[in-house]
Amino acid sequence: MASPRAFPRFHRRRCPPPTASYPFGSPGPLPTRDSAPPKPSKLIRRAAFLFTLLTLSLVMLYTVTDPIRFSSASISSSTFLRFFPSYLNYSPPPDPMQHLEEILRNASMENNTVILTTLNDAWASTNSVFDLFLKSFMLGEGTHRLLDHLVIIALDEKAYNRCQVIHKHCFSLVTEDVDFQQEAYFMTANYLKMMWRRIDFLRSVLELGYSFVFTDVDIMWFRDPFPRFFPDADFQIACDHFLGSPDDLNNLPNGGFNYVKSNNRSIAFYKFWYASHETYPGYHDQDVLNKIKFDPFISDIGLKIRFLDTAYFGGLCERSKDLNLVCTMHANCCFGMDSKLHDLKIMLQDWRAFTSLPSDLKKESVISWRVPQNCSLNSLRHFDSPPFEVVDQEEQEEEN
Ligand SMILES: *[C@@H]1O[C@H](CO)[C@@H](O)[C@H](O)[C@H]1NC(C)=O
Ligand SMILES: *[C@@H]1O[C@H](CO)[C@@H](O)[C@H](O)[C@H]1NC(C)=O
Ligand SMILES: *[C@@H]1O[C@H](CO)[C@@H](O)[C@H](O)[C@H]1NC(C)=O
Ligand SMILES: *[C@@H]1O[C@H](CO)[C@@H](O)[C@H](O)[C@H]1NC(C)=O
Repeated sequence: MASPRAFPRFHRRRCPPPTASYPFGSPGPLPTRDSAPPKPSKLIRRAAFLFTLLTLSLVMLYTVTDPIRFSSASISSSTFLRFFPSYLNYSPPPDPMQHLEEILRNASMENNTVILTTLNDAWASTNSVFDLFLKSFMLGEGTHRLLDHLVIIALDEKAYNRCQVIHKHCFSLVTEDVDFQQEAYFMTANYLKMMWRRIDFLRSVLELGYSFVFTDVDIMWFRDPFPRFFPDADFQIACDHFLGSPDDLNNLPNGGFNYVKSNNRSIAFYKFWYASHETYPGYHDQDVLNKIKFDPFISDIGLKIRFLDTAYFGGLCERSKDLNLVCTMHANCCFGMDSKLHDLKIMLQDWRAFTSLPSDLKKESVISWRVPQNCSLNSLRHFDSPPFEVVDQEEQEEEN
């Protein structure tokens, strides 16, 4: 447990609050990506191409620097295809909703539960975070079988193609629009739209009668999470910082991992969450969740929210300290793609080292995480607070 004394300093430094200014730019709308593209006439085709290149590079720059919720940031391929629709030699099936339903049915567990993740170009390439994500399922305890229930929601064409090569349940949210405004999306394909689109998409999954575990791809799955979920909750979510009680609304949730049961309450909640983006314009889903979690609407509909303990569902913000307990570890509180890859690889190595120990040594917890390393604000010069290890030692001293 993080000591109350040490944590605020630790948290402020490592997890900037969602609405605070980010060292590398805000997750707010990017004008360059938000503006409607010029119609690609023959005359301006050249100019449009240059503009596309510029947009792509801006998107890439933004993507690799978005601090915490990076996984849904890239829209580069769809931007490209908006300019050059003829490059799209892909014919979507006639009824996307039916197609989605079939994919969900194929991937579902007996109890109508699926695991969902979103994937985009920037994360999908070989030796990417996506590979590490899949690898964690292979190395984890009881997680390999869960791959059968994983549906990958590809957010662009490249991600979809890559998914189809290595996984059996792939859904393209780019070309197959499900029940929400395709036009609006294609006109304003930006970060916020993408985040909100995901909330709306997940609502439609719930409406189809499927419960889901949503996971970001920068989350390593080391153990089957289902035994750790609360049997009676409607909406359960992992935390950047867990205060100690699963029903304390002041816990700081992280939208990268949640388990949602399909029922009338959860559907009403997702509708309310989605509608709240108009109440709080310019905020992304996680920020808005932090506002609406106190709304009387939640208790009115009787939605039962539970926050998941970082002891099982940890991250680089707050680690799941005991490798005997860890289910998932998220590369949250991490700046930059290279850093993320670096630390995730070490995380997998640590897990491997742990699993190869004889059982008595496992119990003695002789292995602990060597991360965060590069995923650390300490590496940024303008944060001159004491190194992470100092805080960690304080915590350990207090525990001993
Ligand atoms: C669902 O599974 C069936 C049987 O394995 C298969 O024929 C079909 O193509 C799958 N559908 C999708 C959309 O993957
Ligand atoms: C659903 O089924 C899976 C696979 O059998 C199991 O691990 C999980 O606990 C079940 N979930 C619920 C809520 O019963
Ligand atoms: C949701 O509510 C409708 C009527 O409002 C009811 O028919 C249905 O059974 C409910 N579904 C669930 C899963 O509770
Ligand atoms: C990680 O950090 C080390 C030390 O600061 C640095 O030498 C290395 O290049 C970094 N690696 C990546 C992938 O960022």
